[in-house]
Amino acid sequence: MKAENRGNSKLDLGKYYNYNKRMKFGELVKLRYSCRKYKEKPVEREKIAKCIEAARRAPSACNAQPWKFIVLDEESTRCRAASAASSGKYRFSRFIKGAPVLILVLARKSTFLAAAGSFVRNTEFYLIDIGIACEHVVLQASELNLGSCYVGWFNEKKLKKMFGIPSKISIPLLLTIGYPDEKFREKDVVRKRASSDRRNPVDEILFYNGFGESGKKKDNESD
Ligand SMILES: Cc1cc2nc3c(=O)[nH]c(=O)nc-3n(C[C@H](O)[C@H](O)[C@H](O)COP(=O)(O)O)c2cc1C
Repeated sequence: MKAENRGNSKLDLGKYYNYNKRMKFGELVKLRYSCRKYKEKPVEREKIAKCIEAARRAPSACNAQPWKFIVLDEESTRCRAASAASSGKYRFSRFIKGAPVLILVLARKSTFLAAAGSFVRNTEFYLIDIGIACEHVVLQASELNLGSCYVGWFNEKKLKKMFGIPSKISIPLLLTIGYPDEKFREKDVVRKRASSDRRNPVDEILFYNGFGESGKKKDNESD
């Protein structure tokens, strides 16, 4: 079945980008999108602190909290890091150079208990934890009128060297944050290529009471 448009582009962004209005969770989820062009305006540190606080509150397997964050908001360091991260085969991530804030998301392989659980279940719980924490960051950013983007395609080795990050700590993701240049949203070729507004229809992803069982009642079934 054809994927459906979740209708984000039809949102009245002006209505939501209003500080004084508290957004409902569903509205916030629809508002967030991967922003790849930002205004030059710097981001207030209090807002970044709120985003990191939201991450700090995230759940994690065995409460291992395997995350740390390096926030780059000082121009020379940020530009040096962004250039190194998006060089060579990672050049498709060049847009990160234009973000006023770049966050290196650091992950430490789990505590003994979480690692044992991961081994038995053959699931990298610490990476799930990192994903949850990052989603808290980007949703908090949206509430604060800020755009954001996850970046998984970057030169981790160079960044680790640049910041002297120990070998047992990895950088699974970067996050960009800044005030969005909304005009660019429709022009963003990456968004277009990735059909970013499209989501698989709910009857393809949601089953009730068994694999492949859609929640829709058949014609001959009574209510
Ligand atoms: C783990 C992860 C890694 C991603 N890596 C990149 C990336 O390297 N470059 C990029 O431009 N977007 C990246 N994205 C953004 C996705 O392309 C985007 O979330 C997806 O197309 C849906 O669009 P939306 O975020 O605008 O709803 C990443 C997203 C996630 C969750």
